[in-house]
Amino acid sequence: MKRSEVIIPQDEIDRQMAICDAIRARTAALPHTPLALVDTYGCQQNEADSEQIRGMLRRMGYAFTEDEGEADVIVINTCAIREHAEMRVLGNVGALVHTKRKKPDQIICLCGCAMQEPHMAEKIKKTFRHVDMVFGPHALYRFPELLQWVMEQKGRVFETPDVAGYIAEGLPVARKGTLKAWVSIMYGCNNFCTYCIVPHVRGRERSRDPERILDEVRQLVADGYKDITLLGQNVNSYGKDLGLDMDFADLLQAVNDIPGEFQIRFMTSHPRDASQKLFETMARCEKVAPQLHLPFQSGSSRVLKAMNRHYDRETYLDEVRRLRELIPDIVLTSDVIVGFPGETQEEFEETLSLIEEVRFDALFTFIFSPREGTPAAKMPDPMSKEQKSKNFQTLLDVQNRISAEKHAAYVGKTLPVFLDGVNTQDNRYSLTGRTGGGRLVHLNAPEEFIGQWKQVNIVRASTWALFGELAE
Ligand code: SAH
Ligand code: SF4
Ligand code: F3S
Repeated sequence: MKRSEVIIPQDEIDRQMAICDAIRARTAALPHTPLALVDTYGCQQNEADSEQIRGMLRRMGYAFTEDEGEADVIVINTCAIREHAEMRVLGNVGALVHTKRKKPDQIICLCGCAMQEPHMAEKIKKTFRHVDMVFGPHALYRFPELLQWVMEQKGRVFETPDVAGYIAEGLPVARKGTLKAWVSIMYGCNNFCTYCIVPHVRGRERSRDPERILDEVRQLVADGYKDITLLGQNVNSYGKDLGLDMDFADLLQAVNDIPGEFQIRFMTSHPRDASQKLFETMARCEKVAPQLHLPFQSGSSRVLKAMNRHYDRETYLDEVRRLRELIPDIVLTSDVIVGFPGETQEEFEETLSLIEEVRFDALFTFIFSPREGTPAAKMPDPMSKEQKSKNFQTLLDVQNRISAEKHAAYVGKTLPVFLDGVNTQDNRYSLTGRTGGGRLVHLNAPEEFIGQWKQVNIVRASTWALFGELAE
């Protein structure tokens, strides 16, 4: 695809912003400030998209609410990664029939990955008549225009073009916090892992221009953000489509070179493209957090091949070894799938042994969920559901033990912790923080310390978190 066909022209973005302003002129005349609710499922990419949707709504004059009963506009940003994610969305959308009955002018919009699946959009069209608008990830930048159409025509809109995807620069962003920010560096995915729906709904890999990314980070740093996460489905293939002499490691170095006090994280890295150059750059760059999320998916080379992952067990273990040589205290997390079609009991045990060998700090564990339109959904899948659940539980038990052991090793240490917010998870502690490697810390400290690094004594640990006290 030519770059000129990927980037949405500035005058098209301007046109959408002019529509925001036209809607704002209308909302300003209302007796009350109109309210919007944006609900997000799925990964950080969807969170980042929702921040743009909120940015557009704010420009249209909307304030935000969490109460679906009082919202004038509801946007539900959906995820398609597993069946469970889709079912939750359908359940919640179904329940909105009642809120809309009480508030007939309410506009209900569904967007995101699940809406880009033809069978889901069709289901909404036929059986969820109270939904006014459906748009896929490729139509996100046209949200103002679509909303205006629903408002004026009082008709339903379905906008889910099946295209390779665009880059829309310059959309307004309403970020959730004041310390942590997501920055998308690329969109889509070219990997087509055989189980995965993402490339089918998010389109082909396309990288943002480095200057746009660096400008955005500079602005965030100027605005006081301290924790910046670079986002992409496979950040390690950043730049391949740009025709510049710049890869992800170079981008990381350039972000690191931006003056200011902040930390850099990134996700997700695909082991296929995690280069020695990347590891060396991470080790050299003082702002890059000592943390890596490196999904392995399976410990069996045969299963990895069937997954189309393009690496094997040995390559993965070798990468981890090389990374730890350079950054011994790296916090390593990963994703794993249990019960991929055809996975035997012995192959599952290879996954267990990989976990024992690597000793991840934390693991995101999933049972294989067939996704319509992906090759794995058609593969023979003889293992029973019961056996898969049993294996899943075994895996969780092993990982929980390892996570607890790794956390226990922090007890008695004093380390710098970034105090990132008021504690809403554990009422015995006032604040939460993160270690350099991103481990959660509960502690008591004055609220004015939020946004600062403090030395903290770790006094206790659980599987999921560390508990600390401010060091004098
Ligand atoms: N781009 C990232 C992953 C995004 S999806 C990467 O390649 O690592 C997040 C995780 O969901 C994946 O790593 C995988 O472990 C899991 N996943 C994806 N599709 C799945 C499916 N059909 N069933 C079960 N888990 C799945
Ligand atoms: Fe899905 Fe694989 Fe792409 Fe990750 S790399 S988004 S798992 S296809
Ligand atoms: Fe879900 Fe789409 Fe992310 S499918 S995991 S929201 S890219």
